[in-house]
Order: sequence, then structure tokens, then C-alpha cells
Amino acid sequence: MYEASDIINRAEQFVKEQLQHDSSGHDWWHAYRVKQAAATIAEREGADLQTCILAALLHDVADPKLNPSKEEGLRKVENWLEVEGVPAEAKDHILEIIATMSYSGGNRPPMQTLEGRVVQDADRLDAIGAIGIGRAFAYGGSRGRLMYDPGVSVREFQSEEEYRSHQGTTIHHFDEKLLKLKDLMNTESGRELAEERHQFMLEFLDRFHKEWEGK
Ligand code: ADP
Ligand code: NI
Repeated sequence: MYEASDIINRAEQFVKEQLQHDSSGHDWWHAYRVKQAAATIAEREGADLQTCILAALLHDVADPKLNPSKEEGLRKVENWLEVEGVPAEAKDHILEIIATMSYSGGNRPPMQTLEGRVVQDADRLDAIGAIGIGRAFAYGGSRGRLMYDPGVSVREFQSEEEYRSHQGTTIHHFDEKLLKLKDLMNTESGRELAEERHQFMLEFLDRFHKEWEGK
């Protein structure tokens, strides 16, 4: 039976099981933080809370990095929603959000629904600010990347593949992606939250470059 209050608890269990072996920055606590931010933004924007929370929790379960393919990942989420008895309309909406929200160089078509815009904003917020800085260095370290190399130049990317495969440093990742996110926010509430986190990254980078030169 579809029972709205329990399904969020069960979604949390499912996501914990699915993401427990991840080390690419898509661990359970990323899903948790995106859910928290999605709830904050959804309330302020008047979006459907349950759709936003479920999509936020489930958004990385279908990630192609954790599945044989994106399609198989999406089928896994769809199957879970069906077993849970989520009505077809809500199920399709959640799947549509998950299928379309990833960054991909920032050149995807805009999200179709308010709930989609809310969850995408929440996911982007987790890539910036203090958490975003922490995640970037954790990710860079996991790929054996240098923190910084003043001899490397900042790149623009034409495709997802190019973005994923290039060998920049973590500090370069700020110019290549993280500092662009605030202008890509969809909602007013998302923009407000992003602004403060953005300023914090600028302050961090300023200090980083000063300390790099022993100042
Ligand atoms: P998403 O799947 O949410 O679009 P990614 O898989 O691109 O995110 O990144 C997951 C986390 O790792 C993010 O916090 C992101 O900023 C960070 N990250 C991704 N690529 C790099 C990189 N080249 N250098 C440092 N951090 C990165
Ligand atoms: Ni995410």
C-alpha cells in the first residue's frame, strides 16, 4: 500500500543500501544533504514536498558511474517506485527529474517542472560552499589529482566526455565548474543560498593563492 509518510523512510533505507560502496562523491550523505536542501527550497518555492524529497534522495541511485548504464540505473529506480506502489503520475515525474538533472557541462535543456528545478538547485548547492570545497578535494584526491598546479590552464569543455576525462587540478575545477553554478540556479531561493556559498568559495580561493605564495 502506498503510504506517504513511510515511503520517505523506506527511500532512505534503499538509498543507503545502493550508495554504501560509492567513493565518487555520491555517498549516502550527499543524498541526505540534497534532500535537506530540496526540502528547504521546496517549502519556500511552494513545490510539492514529497516529490522533491523522493527525487532528491533517489537522484544518484541511477548514476551511470554506479550502474552498467544510465538506463539500467533508471530501471532500478522505476522498479523500486513500482514495488512501493507510487502512483504512475508521481513515479513518472520523479523518474523524469532524475533522468534530466545532471550537470553535463551545464548545457542541458532547462528542467521542465518546478520540482525538477528545486531538486537540481539542491544538488548544485552541494557542489559549492564549504561542503563543495570538501567534496572537490575528496574527489580530486580519489583520482590522484594535484590540489593545484600554477602551470596548468583553465579549460572550457565541449562535451561531457571531455569534462570527465581531462586532467586538471582541484583548484582548476573551481573555475571550470564550481564558480559557474551560482548563475545556473533555477529558483530565487536557490540563488539566495548559492550566493552566500559562492562568496565563501571566493574567500577560500583568495586565501589559498595567498598562502601558496607564503603570504
Ligand atoms: P554530479 O554527478 O552531481 O554532476 P560530479 O560527479 O561531476 O557531480 O561530481 C561529484 C563531486 O565531485 C562534486 O562535488 C564535484 O564538484 C566534484 N568533482 C567532479 N569533478 C571534479 C574534478 N575534476 N575535480 C575536483 N572535483 C570534482
Ligand atoms: Ni548529486
